[in-house]
Amino acid sequence: MNRTPRAALFAFLCLALGAASPVEWWRHAVFYEIYPRSFQDTKGDGVGDLNGITARLDYLRDLGVDAVWLTPIFPSPQVDFGYDVSDYRAIDPRFGTLADFDRLVAEGRRRGIRVVLDLVLNHTSDQHPWFKDSRSSRSAARRDWYVWRDGKGAAPPCNWVSLFGGPAWTLDRTTGQYYYHFFYGSQPDLNWRNPAVRDEMLDVTRWWYKRGVAGFRLDALDTVFEDPDLKDNPLLPGRNAFGDPNMLNVHNYKLEEGRGLMRALRREADPFGAVLIGETYTDSTEELRSYYGNGRDQLQMPTGHMLAMAEKLSAPDFRKRIAATEATGFWPVLVLGNHDLARPASRYGDKVHDDAIAKALGTLLLTLRGTPILYYGDELGMINTDPARREDVMDPMGRAGWPTAKRRDGERTPMQWDATAAAGFTTGRPWLPVPASARSHNVATERRDPGSVLNWHRAVLALRRSRKALQDGAYRPLAQDDPHVLAYLRVVDEETILVAVNLSDKERRLDLGLSGSAQVLLATGSVPAHGLPPALGPYSALVATLGRPGPALVD
Ligand code: NOJ
Repeated sequence: MNRTPRAALFAFLCLALGAASPVEWWRHAVFYEIYPRSFQDTKGDGVGDLNGITARLDYLRDLGVDAVWLTPIFPSPQVDFGYDVSDYRAIDPRFGTLADFDRLVAEGRRRGIRVVLDLVLNHTSDQHPWFKDSRSSRSAARRDWYVWRDGKGAAPPCNWVSLFGGPAWTLDRTTGQYYYHFFYGSQPDLNWRNPAVRDEMLDVTRWWYKRGVAGFRLDALDTVFEDPDLKDNPLLPGRNAFGDPNMLNVHNYKLEEGRGLMRALRREADPFGAVLIGETYTDSTEELRSYYGNGRDQLQMPTGHMLAMAEKLSAPDFRKRIAATEATGFWPVLVLGNHDLARPASRYGDKVHDDAIAKALGTLLLTLRGTPILYYGDELGMINTDPARREDVMDPMGRAGWPTAKRRDGERTPMQWDATAAAGFTTGRPWLPVPASARSHNVATERRDPGSVLNWHRAVLALRRSRKALQDGAYRPLAQDDPHVLAYLRVVDEETILVAVNLSDKERRLDLGLSGSAQVLLATGSVPAHGLPPALGPYSALVATLGRPGPALVD
C-alpha cells in the first residue's frame, strides 16, 4: 500500500471510531502569524530572531495559540524582507541557525504549538544560485528554470506590469533577453512549466516536513503560472499608484494550471498530516470554492480574505461576506490582518473607539465558524504607524509608491511587549520605529488591565477552547436586516452560543427575536445577571449561551 491510501484509511478509522482525525488538527487550531523581524530580538541588532520566538512561546500558549505561521526565515538578501529566498533549505543567519529552528519546533511541540513556514513558490531572489546560473548564459543548465524571452524590438516581450511598479520584465544585458518578475526586479519568477522546478520545490516541502514543520503558507500562489504565449493583458482606464496603466491580469494571474500544483503539494503534505494555507485573494464564492478542489485534494485553508477585504465596518457588508464564505460548503479560514494589510484597528478604527473596535473584530475572528489566523499584535489593538518621510521607508512597495501608497511598514512595527523605549522588543535600535502607542498598548500593561484588548482576546480564546459550539457549531445568522448589529448563533446538538456585535458608534437595541433563557458568558459592556441586555453600546460585543445557564468567564 502506498502512503496516501494508508493515510486515508487511518483518517477513515479515526472518523469511524469518533476520534478527531489527526490530519484535521488545523480545524480546531488558532493560528498566529509572526513577522519574525518584528517579534522579539535576542541579539540586540534590532531585528527579531528565532530564539526570540522560542522565548515568547509561553506567551503564545497562555494566549491560546495552537500554531504559528512564520513569514520567510530562509537566507535572503531581504529586499522584500524574506520573500526573496536565496536558499530554501537553510535559515538566514539574521534569524538564527537550523539548530535554533529545531529547538523552536521542539519547544513549540512541548507546549502544543505547531510551526508553519512560508513557501515562496512563484519566485526566488536574484541572488539564488539557481538564478545566478540561469542568467549566466543562454545555454546554462538552469536557464529554463526562469522565464526568459526576447523583447519586441526595444520593448519588453508583453505589456504586463509588476505589482511593485514598472514593467514586469527586466532586460539582462549578459544574454540580451528579458526575465519576468511579477514582483520586484530582484524577485525573478520561476518557470513552473519546467518539471525540474516542480520536483525541486516538492522536495523542499518534504525536507521541512521531515524536520517537524506542520505545513506551509503558500505565498503568491495565484501568480505561479503565466500564459506561455505572453498575450498582452487588456487595459483598463487610468493608472495605478505607481503610474503604470491599469490592466486586467488575465494572462498572468489565477491560471487554471495552479490546480495541478495544489494537488501535487497536497499529495506531499498528507502523509505528514500537514496543512496548506493558500495566499489567495477573492470575493467570489465560486472562486474560493475552487481552491479546495474536491475537499481532499487541494488546499485545506485557502485564505480568500473576504472579511479583510471589507472597506468599512458595516454589519450588512460583513454579513454578506460571511455568507459568501459559508456558501463554499467548505471549512472557512478567517483573517482580518496580516503583514500586507493595514492593521484592522486602524483600517476600521475611528480614533475614538479603536479599542472597542479591536475587541469587536477579535470577537468575530474568534467566534465565527472556521479557523482564525490572528496577526501578531492585533490581540493588543496595535495600530498602523506609517513612515512620515520617504527616507524612512523600508518596504520596496512603499518606496516605489511614495507618497500615494506608503504600503506595508506601518503594519510591521515591532511587537509591543512593555512600556519601555523599545517596547521590550530589542536592546538595540529597532529596524522599524516603535510606535508611540506602545506606551499604552503592550503586553505588560494590558495584562494588568481587566478591560484591555489583550484580556478580551484571551477570554474569547479560552471560551472558544471550552465550547464545542464555537469550534464545530453550524453558523446561523440572526436579525439579517439589522443595519448595525451583527448577530449569529453557533449551534451543535447539545449547545447553542449567541454572538452579537454592534458595529456602529451608537447604542443599538438588541432585537434578535429569540425566546427562552439566555446567559451572557462574556461581554465588553455591562449586562444583567440573567438574560440579554436590551441594547448594546457603541462597538460592544457579547457572547451568550442559550437554553441553559453557563458560568461567567470574565467580570
Ligand atoms: C505576498 C507576501 O505576503 C508579500 O509580503 C510579498 O511581498 C509578496 N507575496 C511577494 O513574495
